[in-house]
Amino acid sequence: MRQTKTKTMSDPIPSRDSFGSKFGVIAAAAGSAVGLGNIWRFPYVAGENGGGAFLLTYIIFIALIGVSVMLAEFIIGRKAQRNALGSFKKLSPGTPWYLVGLMGIVAAFVILAFYSAVAGWTLEYTANSITNSFQGKSPDQIDNMFDTFIAHPWRPLMWQGLFLIATAWIVWAGVKRGIERYAKILMPLLFILIIALAIRSVTLDGAMKGITFLFKPDFSKLSGGSILEALGQAFFSLSIGMGALITYGSYINKKENLSSSAIQVTITDAIVAILAGVAIFPAVFALGGNPGSGPGLVFETLPKIFMAMPGGYFFAILFFVLLAVAALTSSISVLEVVVAYVSEELNIKRHKATVLSTIAIAIPGVIAVMSWGATSEWTLFGMHTFDFLDWISANVLLPLGGLLIVIYTGWMLKTKEVKEELSSQGKYKVILFPVFNFIIKFLAPVAIAIVFLNSIGVLNL
Ligand code: PHE
Repeated sequence: MRQTKTKTMSDPIPSRDSFGSKFGVIAAAAGSAVGLGNIWRFPYVAGENGGGAFLLTYIIFIALIGVSVMLAEFIIGRKAQRNALGSFKKLSPGTPWYLVGLMGIVAAFVILAFYSAVAGWTLEYTANSITNSFQGKSPDQIDNMFDTFIAHPWRPLMWQGLFLIATAWIVWAGVKRGIERYAKILMPLLFILIIALAIRSVTLDGAMKGITFLFKPDFSKLSGGSILEALGQAFFSLSIGMGALITYGSYINKKENLSSSAIQVTITDAIVAILAGVAIFPAVFALGGNPGSGPGLVFETLPKIFMAMPGGYFFAILFFVLLAVAALTSSISVLEVVVAYVSEELNIKRHKATVLSTIAIAIPGVIAVMSWGATSEWTLFGMHTFDFLDWISANVLLPLGGLLIVIYTGWMLKTKEVKEELSSQGKYKVILFPVFNFIIKFLAPVAIAIVFLNSIGVLNL
């Protein structure tokens, strides 16, 4: 990869690995965005924060801020052609802005630690589906199965290890031959399956309550904390605020249209989250369960839907396999942030960088995965390790990173340069540029700051 540093006349930038096509860019970026964040995290966070009003707030954040942060990341990455930290160093040498990249690398450790734990759970549930373990169990027994499993001394750890190895394997193989190839085939398949599940769920007796819960906003349930949760979920789900898309942006061809890619990725991501909500909540209300039951929500609800549908045995297997794949196409983008940094900035060969980074990430990972077992007594701010890492990544690190990224793009880069990169040197019309410019300069920074200050009680809106 980096060894193929050749300079040609027409291409003054050392050639790095890159995505091969427009569809490849979208598949990879959507692969990063669509993942456990949509299917596992969105329903449980929406469930804990009142449903409808949360969904609406989340969508507003995605549309008003999310797309623009994503674009800002693509712009920084493609302009600099470097990893998340190196991009800031290259574009603004001698300034402390590289610290934003450093924060992204810290966020990658935090996210992958608990993300790989949940991804491991999807593997256990794949195995459970294959052995038909949900069959004949009451809803309560299915809930218990989950609680018993996550507290098991070694099974969650084993699956997490396996998942991390798979992640490292793909990152090792490189951008085009690894990430891009698989994402293109598997993501569309997942999409179809979620639609099938959503249809099964809304046709259950008593499903309406779930639909009402998800779509009817009850603003009395929205606290300052829930607004931050919605912002954090929007960032987490879109993979923004930590440099994953700066890194991917650096692999995007100079001719590609960044705006249309960002919009398509964002829409896909939001649709998958909403579909996941439509699959989960009607079933929660119809088949027994509590929408506010936390990280176990989908693992407790989905098996119940599968048991209530013809061919559920096969659908269950297929679904959990695809969920694991969706998790994989996301986790590789998180690991890639660290690997690109280690290989480019610390001059360690890519393969070695992959192994070292994965081992380093496994350390907080093991602590997180044992949060219901060996490390259950370890708490921070009243949360055990898993909940703490989940919370701090989405609600602190990503919004803060996003805030700094838009401020940087809006105020540190020259408007002309930004426009040039966004239009691919004038190749595409950027009619909405004034809107984008307004958002990154004013709206997004102010909105993110208000949400923060409000949730920590400095403002009282
Ligand atoms: N967006 C991914 C998901 O929804 C998670 C992720 C977060 C990936 C941050 C990369 C960076 O599952």
